[in-house]
Amino acid sequence: MTRVLTGITTSGTPHLGNYVGAVRPAIAASRAPDAESFYFLADLHSLVKVQDAARVQRSTLEIAATWLAAGLDPDKVWFYRQSDIPEISELNWFLTCVAGKGALNRAHAYKASVDRNRAEGEDDDSGITAGLFMYPVLMSADILLFNAHKVPVGRDQVQHIEMARDFGQRFNHLFGRDYFTLPEAVIEENVATLPGLDGRKMSKSYDNTIPLFAPRQEMRKLIASIVTDSRAPGEAKEAEGSHVFQLYQAFASSEETAGMRQAFADGIGWGDAKQQLFERIDAEVAPMRERYESLMARPAEVEAMLRDGARRLRAKYATPFLAELRQAVGLRDLSFQAAAGGEAVDKVTLPSFKQYRDTDKRFYFKLLDGEGELLLQSAGFDSPKEAGQLIGVLKLAESANALETPAINVLVPVEKVLVALGHLRQAEG
Ligand code: TRP
Repeated sequence: MTRVLTGITTSGTPHLGNYVGAVRPAIAASRAPDAESFYFLADLHSLVKVQDAARVQRSTLEIAATWLAAGLDPDKVWFYRQSDIPEISELNWFLTCVAGKGALNRAHAYKASVDRNRAEGEDDDSGITAGLFMYPVLMSADILLFNAHKVPVGRDQVQHIEMARDFGQRFNHLFGRDYFTLPEAVIEENVATLPGLDGRKMSKSYDNTIPLFAPRQEMRKLIASIVTDSRAPGEAKEAEGSHVFQLYQAFASSEETAGMRQAFADGIGWGDAKQQLFERIDAEVAPMRERYESLMARPAEVEAMLRDGARRLRAKYATPFLAELRQAVGLRDLSFQAAAGGEAVDKVTLPSFKQYRDTDKRFYFKLLDGEGELLLQSAGFDSPKEAGQLIGVLKLAESANALETPAINVLVPVEKVLVALGHLRQAEG
């Protein structure tokens, strides 16, 4: 199973360029049978750029609704909000403490800000927050916490993935084991970059975007305002290099595209070409727009979906993995001495399984922690062997779903049981 992970910063309203360049290919990729996909709303990252609380909230809802409307299935992929996974922030600190400051000094986004300051005769770091500087570390935490193999990103993000490898590798080296998988950037070569209204790359920073879910009339008006040359109807037009044509191509089949190329050669008027472009886009967007609007009208539903995703993901990966990382760096239960290094294991504090036979003549077991607190209780078995087999399985459990069997009843938060099982494994070597 290949784990594919990507984040979307919640700082704006999704536009056609985001849809064609990121949302549509990612949703197609998420349907691959051999991939486990992680898509998340990078709201902590948005705070680096946006200090407008209402905008962060609105953008988070808009982006979540966009991905869902475009066909993302939260039962098949992990779909969550970064700030709902506190383990990301905790790992961010662990990685901060292994990341080289020099590597961060060389990050493109930071360097570009410094260069701008120098050009303006300002102090190097004028107006630059530590958040901007540390951005690549938080991004590494996003990626490394889930041991992602592949990270689809734009070219501008490749350096960040290299840093994630660097920080992950340093951590592995310092703490003596391959805790982290080293991720690889995936750059989609054949995904189109769309031109915006003025012909430059469609981007919020150029203020030249067409919002994906603009109401029909507004979408039509925006498309009519795309800059073209002044060739009159009847004059042959060059398809290659035309922004109207490029946009059309991003939505059309190859036959439709061939037809449009012919129409350009035959001198289609810009007004007609734009009308056809509008209709082609609307054919793809209209059904999604309906779903989008209904989600936007029910924010509590989107909220519940995101929370549910984060809850399941924490239980399955984040919480037990972070418990392991805390052990690795030395944030440990003081009463528990790791067997490593030859120190004696304090048996009194170790959790233990107790097997017994009850008055109903059936065989049971329970798990107690070092203080004797009851962590889990089994159902009755016909033989001690069956009970023992399940204990064997439980001893290997590293994730919450390994504890999801009707044969046991977990009586405390699952994380506590996982930590106890981890201690047992460590003690037993
Ligand atoms: N920095 C990415 C961007 O601006 C968003 C992002 C945050 C991300 N965390 C990530 C992308 C982790 C991939 C993996 O596009």
